[in-house]
Amino acid sequence: MAEKTEVKSLDEQQAIVELKRLAKAMAQADVAYHQNDAPEISDAEYDALKSRNAEIETLFPTLKRRDSPSDKVGAPVSSGFSKVKHAVAMMSLGNAFTDDDVAEFDTRIRKFLNIADDQPLEYTAEPKIDGLSLSLRYEDGLLVQAATRGDGEFGENVTANALTLSDIPASIISAPDILEVRGEVYMSRADFAALNDTQILNDAKPFANPRNAAAGSLRQLDSKITKSRPLHFFAYALGEVSEDLSDTQSGIIDRLSHLGFSTNLLMRRCSNPSELIEHYSKIERGRATLGYDIDGVVYKVDNLALQTRLGFRTNTPRWAIAHKFPAELAQTIVEDIEIQVGRTGALSPVARLKPVTVGGVVVSNATLHNEDYIAGRDSFGNLIREGRDIRKGDWVTVYRAGDVIPKIKDVDVSRRKEGSQRYEFPSVCPECGSDAIREEGEAVARCTGGLICPAQAVEKLKHFVSRAAFDIDGLGAKQVETFYLDGWVKAPADIFSLYQRIGSGNIQQLKNFEGWGAKSAQKLFDAIKTKQQIPLNRLIFALGIRHVGESTAMTLARHYGTWDTFNAAMENAGDQRGSEWETLNAIDGVGGVMAAALVDYFHEVKTRAALEDLVKHLSVIDVAAPIVEGSTVGGKVVVFTGTLEKMTRAEAKANAEALGAKVSGSVSAKTDIVVAGPGAGSKRKKAEELGVKVLSEDEWLALIG
Ligand code: IVH
Repeated sequence: MAEKTEVKSLDEQQAIVELKRLAKAMAQADVAYHQNDAPEISDAEYDALKSRNAEIETLFPTLKRRDSPSDKVGAPVSSGFSKVKHAVAMMSLGNAFTDDDVAEFDTRIRKFLNIADDQPLEYTAEPKIDGLSLSLRYEDGLLVQAATRGDGEFGENVTANALTLSDIPASIISAPDILEVRGEVYMSRADFAALNDTQILNDAKPFANPRNAAAGSLRQLDSKITKSRPLHFFAYALGEVSEDLSDTQSGIIDRLSHLGFSTNLLMRRCSNPSELIEHYSKIERGRATLGYDIDGVVYKVDNLALQTRLGFRTNTPRWAIAHKFPAELAQTIVEDIEIQVGRTGALSPVARLKPVTVGGVVVSNATLHNEDYIAGRDSFGNLIREGRDIRKGDWVTVYRAGDVIPKIKDVDVSRRKEGSQRYEFPSVCPECGSDAIREEGEAVARCTGGLICPAQAVEKLKHFVSRAAFDIDGLGAKQVETFYLDGWVKAPADIFSLYQRIGSGNIQQLKNFEGWGAKSAQKLFDAIKTKQQIPLNRLIFALGIRHVGESTAMTLARHYGTWDTFNAAMENAGDQRGSEWETLNAIDGVGGVMAAALVDYFHEVKTRAALEDLVKHLSVIDVAAPIVEGSTVGGKVVVFTGTLEKMTRAEAKANAEALGAKVSGSVSAKTDIVVAGPGAGSKRKKAEELGVKVLSEDEWLALIG
């Protein structure tokens, strides 16, 4: 039988026959597996056919068939997933934990839109599925791309895998030409338990919870594995669409359901915060019997025109919020209290706990925040936990709120061992021995060692390569730490000279490191090279300046546009006076503390030198204010003053920014437009003195159309 014949003994005629037989057998297996859900051969048998086919093709390349199984789309990819840019960013949600937070959400929206309390404002409320989000792109009714959320801007292309989910239609009819459907991939609790049983039987690691199991199953390089995992999908939102599906959120859900998607039956329309909370309580009561994990209830403004007016903050919509369920609690023992030193030198105490499961996840650390928190006080000197301090050996109640680091809720002093001692907070840095100083009014003590403190240096590097900063493939927190300890990378600039130093002639050195092979080393060098081009906002964020988070970094990048302008402005603002200092302070979203931290950073001699070293290796990509087609105010500096009558100040600002304008809080020679409502005073006067254009609210609205 040809099947038994060794490939190298086949003659050409036999090879032709054998390739035909293999193509047919695999095509048959594919239909049984992908279309009929009834595999006829085992995965191992399938793989054997496949590799025999490949072997023959290698030996007789000219005989490769036009329908060769090795060219099949949907076949498992051998390396990681490709990245895809989301046409519309995938955002996350802000959180509410209490009924008051929900009332505030409603108040904030009404205020933003200027809707009086007695005017109707409809919401939807639906379960927050604890899975992973997925964006499905349909073009002319065909699923052309499925992408994970990734960092919100770029996700992973998991199309072949998504196609194996029965809840995800491969094609839909009567849909707009472009339709992006967003929703959550999840696994039921029963399926999760069964999967873990199988994992254990096969000596594979069990998954921590259904969400991890869903994520691990969707992100398989071999879509056959994904196919074998019982994954589901709930659709709950849209991305890019070429045509509106409805004018309400609830209408969209209706349409999605008619198009063939599973939507959550627990979605309700609610007319006020009390109805939202009532529905939340109902969902919470039924939580245990739902069969799948949810971690809260999502509220969305129902009217899509209002959603558009409300828009987004940096990463979250103003029109939606996740009302989280209270965290699960567990009791355990504090085995030790350790101090971690962060990138800004802050000494953060951490409780090392006897491992305990909280909400399906094993917890072995909890944050202790600072000295006062351990002692039972908040930063204003008020008692917390009725003043009970936390000691080594104590029994404590721990909880997890969302995805954040576990926290300690309380301490059980009745179980405290006799002779236990209060925790004494260190006065020197445990990493470098420099003095740790707690300044007046500050909650945290900081190491004064600066760059000589290895912990600060490592943490700075970790931040530098983190996801929202340089995000270099293959260079994560673990790798920079090893590179630091081995003396290869002491400062950010060293990352970019790594190849010159060890890559070319001496790649062996990197290969000698645990876990590095020639391929991964080369991949790392390539990844580093691609990140030498970096957008200004990412660079600013990567520097790890105190108080400068992702969103401020973006604000600064949009304001200054180029590295040279930003760098020069920070230098000129150094003595904390003059026009650059004033401009910096006037940027909406930049406060006094932040401005001071920025100029301090740029004026510290050693930091400055390290920065110059770094920038030499980079080509910084300018960040323009978003270019909005047809916008008459793109790039213009606008100041709103006085009372606005048609919209609130917040909406006016968000609106102007969405059109690419820069909104500033004070008038200077750089201001392009002052929008002055009734009651405008000194700012209007200054604008007139400086010859800056002053518009009424109506003139402004006419200008932006
Ligand atoms: S709406 C603009 N609805 O929660 C954001 N998200 O914390 C639109 N999620 O990344 C998201 N259930 O993965 C929405 N019913 C639901 C959801 C839901 C789960 C996830 C989603 C999102 C995350 C935000």
